[in-house]
Amino acid sequence: MSKVKAAVFASGTGSNFEAIMEAVDLPCEIVLLVCDRPGAKVVEKADKYDVSTFVFSAKDFVSKADCEAELISQLQKAEIEWIFLAGYMRLIGPTLLEAYEHKIINIHPSLLPAHPGKDGIGDAFRAGVSETGVTVHYVDAGMDTGPIIIQESVPILAEDTIDTLATRIHAVEHQLYPRAIRQLIEKK
Ligand code: GRF
Repeated sequence: MSKVKAAVFASGTGSNFEAIMEAVDLPCEIVLLVCDRPGAKVVEKADKYDVSTFVFSAKDFVSKADCEAELISQLQKAEIEWIFLAGYMRLIGPTLLEAYEHKIINIHPSLLPAHPGKDGIGDAFRAGVSETGVTVHYVDAGMDTGPIIIQESVPILAEDTIDTLATRIHAVEHQLYPRAIRQLIEKK
């Protein structure tokens, strides 16, 4: 039986993209990378795995709706059923949310609802809390606000720097995202 097809949306380094690609027994096939930053490292990673890429600049579109209409056309052409955001730095708008209702998920490096936004790791570190973590959640129109699917906590140690904390958080992300994807698609 052929696997359902999925796309990863990413803007940066792509370590989570790579973790998904390396995950064993994933019940979906990643057939498309969508990237809004030409030159991002994740594009090289997609090439390495022979995954097709759609790389765009938001400024080439007259509006977010126009941009998302093009994304939907690319996604439909590739028969995509699921979208996994992995360091994608744009909010998803109503056009794409309606087309892929309950089928877009995101990973965020904090225990949401604490520390949403662009610097979840740094914000938790500076807040002086004793633990932070990783959250996988459904995407809605807000910034890191959708219903939570799974979370794992990561302690913040007295000797931590932002870098050592980030390294431990990313290691958790790379395990948790494939696990969440597996559970979601198999509806566990
Ligand atoms: C990860 O920390 C993810 O949680 C956040 O953006 C970062 C992406 O890192 N949304 P990478 O590009 O996957 O290495």
